[in-house]
Amino acid sequence: MHIRVLGSAAGGGYPQWNCNHPNSRRARAGDAQAKSRTQSSIAVSADGERWLICNASPDLRQQINDNPVLQPAADGPLRASPIQAVMLTNADVDHVTGLLNLRESQAFNLYATGRVLEVLAANSIFNVLNPAFVTRRSMRLGEPFAPLAADGTPLGLSITPFAVPGKVALWLEDAAKGVDIGAVTEDTIALEVRDTASGRCFFYLPACARMTPELAARIRGAALVFFDGTLWVDDEMVRDGVGTKTGQRMGHLSISGEGGSIALLRELGIARKVFIHINTTNPVLLEDSPERAEATAAGWEVAYDGMQLEV
Ligand code: MLT
Ligand code: MN
Repeated sequence: MHIRVLGSAAGGGYPQWNCNHPNSRRARAGDAQAKSRTQSSIAVSADGERWLICNASPDLRQQINDNPVLQPAADGPLRASPIQAVMLTNADVDHVTGLLNLRESQAFNLYATGRVLEVLAANSIFNVLNPAFVTRRSMRLGEPFAPLAADGTPLGLSITPFAVPGKVALWLEDAAKGVDIGAVTEDTIALEVRDTASGRCFFYLPACARMTPELAARIRGAALVFFDGTLWVDDEMVRDGVGTKTGQRMGHLSISGEGGSIALLRELGIARKVFIHINTTNPVLLEDSPERAEATAAGWEVAYDGMQLEV
């Protein structure tokens, strides 16, 4: 099974448009140790030809231009795309707005939970995805299913979506009702992606607010896990003077410390651990930082745009 990281940064990308944090300045200056990154998304393919996109980043157009495997074949028809299906893990801006790039009456299947499909249905701008071509299909938590190519044939993958602790997308928060941080609902899910032929699988968790015994048991011994790498430390944005929210308030478990993801996943026997959805303030982005060295020493990789993995 082929996996490509299309975008490895959190919402806003790296550098974020209005960010003057030293991290962002280094990326903007073209520093080779501080590589720019587009917003969170991966592509998966069993056959190397037909691709499933997990999360539709606002940078999807650039990501397609950067990855020739996602472009129409040179000898193909006048309108075509290797992108056969799109799957969403939440309704974050950084995960749904790329759908708007996929207009122009091209057939594909769009998979999301009932909750996220409701949100899309309530926002008529997504009607640019012509229903005569784009089929919206509901995923049920805990139920494995075979995603389909545009022509209805199976993509050779089996997906099990499951809820992880998180919260509703920022733009859907309702101050009057309060926000249940760490809620285990259809708002924030993760994916177990299995290659039907080989039986091999990996996990994709771009957002996760905390570890639970159920989650630890599920990912224990996995060949590969992509995990929420938003912040190095919970109060990073507050400490660095660029924001008022903690990682916990945003629904993200931080990387460092006793209660962080490095510690919590350390004993789970996972062969390959990769941070993804990394915020512009996170020092792990800097290849020469002590934090990067610590993550590497703990057996973690930091996703970068264009990273290719095989499972
Ligand atoms: C998040 O992952 O916390 C969101 O992408 C935040 C946002 O929408 O800016
Ligand atoms: Mn996000």
